[in-house]
Amino acid sequence: MLEDWLQQIEEASSLEALEAARVRLLGKKGELTQKLKQLGKLPPEARREEGRRLNEAKRALEAAILTRREALKREALGARLAQEALDVTLPGLAFPPGNTHVLTQVLAELVGIFQRMGYQAVLGPEAEEAFYNFDALNIPEHHPARDMHDTFWLTTTPKTSQIEGAKLLRTHTSPIQVRYMSQHTPPFKIVAPGKVFRHEATDATHEAMFHQLEGLVVGDNITMADLKGALLAMARALYGPEAKVNFRPSYFPFVEPGVEFEVWWTNPKTGKGTWLELGGAGMVHPEVFRAVDELRRAKGLAPIYTGKTGFAFGLGVERIAMLRYPIPDIRAFFQNRIPFLTQFRGGA
Ligand code: PHE
Repeated sequence: MLEDWLQQIEEASSLEALEAARVRLLGKKGELTQKLKQLGKLPPEARREEGRRLNEAKRALEAAILTRREALKREALGARLAQEALDVTLPGLAFPPGNTHVLTQVLAELVGIFQRMGYQAVLGPEAEEAFYNFDALNIPEHHPARDMHDTFWLTTTPKTSQIEGAKLLRTHTSPIQVRYMSQHTPPFKIVAPGKVFRHEATDATHEAMFHQLEGLVVGDNITMADLKGALLAMARALYGPEAKVNFRPSYFPFVEPGVEFEVWWTNPKTGKGTWLELGGAGMVHPEVFRAVDELRRAKGLAPIYTGKTGFAFGLGVERIAMLRYPIPDIRAFFQNRIPFLTQFRGGA
């Protein structure tokens, strides 16, 4: 009898079949359960003997069911694993390598050139206070120079920079000059890369957002010759030992004298040279030093800039890249088209 029962359990070929066998034998109306219920009808001697036999059988069945259940579960898992096996030889999804943006590469190259000359790289905010962008740079409220910088205002009181807290998207990186001087003691040499914003019509050579690199050197007895030397070193690092720098007199309210500077650039493909206008520069205007000292006083710092000398320059980064590669339309930089961007994979 027990042999037969055990065989039923051994032969159960699925978890469902095993459960059916368990109910059939040990369930409320199961064969063994029935037999246990009928024990009471036997004479006392036989009852004890039969009772022990049935209980042993019950334990044996329960143990057999447990063992069989584990075996069936293992089989089911093995079958699933075999079916779901990964084919590790299948080709994966292609994940092409990325690269930095061409402007990031050119900016890094420029910053590197100046770092090797001992300049520190610093940053300033893109959302700037009108005070730093204009007033402290000797561009007072009604000065026509403000019209040269069509401004994206962030506060609702356009051009009223006297109102404290008037904010805008910086129109140039020059406000970093004031921020840096208000917190640091000369002598120092800094460059400041970053985005600038002008609210003007877009065409192949103009964008509402572009990049500048600002430079500022302050110390004792700094001269225009130092400025030219720094820019010439930059031009040579960019374009080789034959590079030249030219100054043309110009006007920016925060420098005196002020120049626009151009670099002699030889196209490596055609061998032809042109003057490339790169940006503005000049000697830091005494009014800027005065505004910085006023600011320092307000902050409880010693006014130390009056009587100092320094030069500043600011150049457009897109122009350098557009000529070098060449890129005919400035808008290509910011359209984020993969075929354009991946052409510069070789870079930094
Ligand atoms: N900030 C000026 C511009 O954006 C450039 C400049 C910088 C000129 C520093 C002189 C000195 O046009």
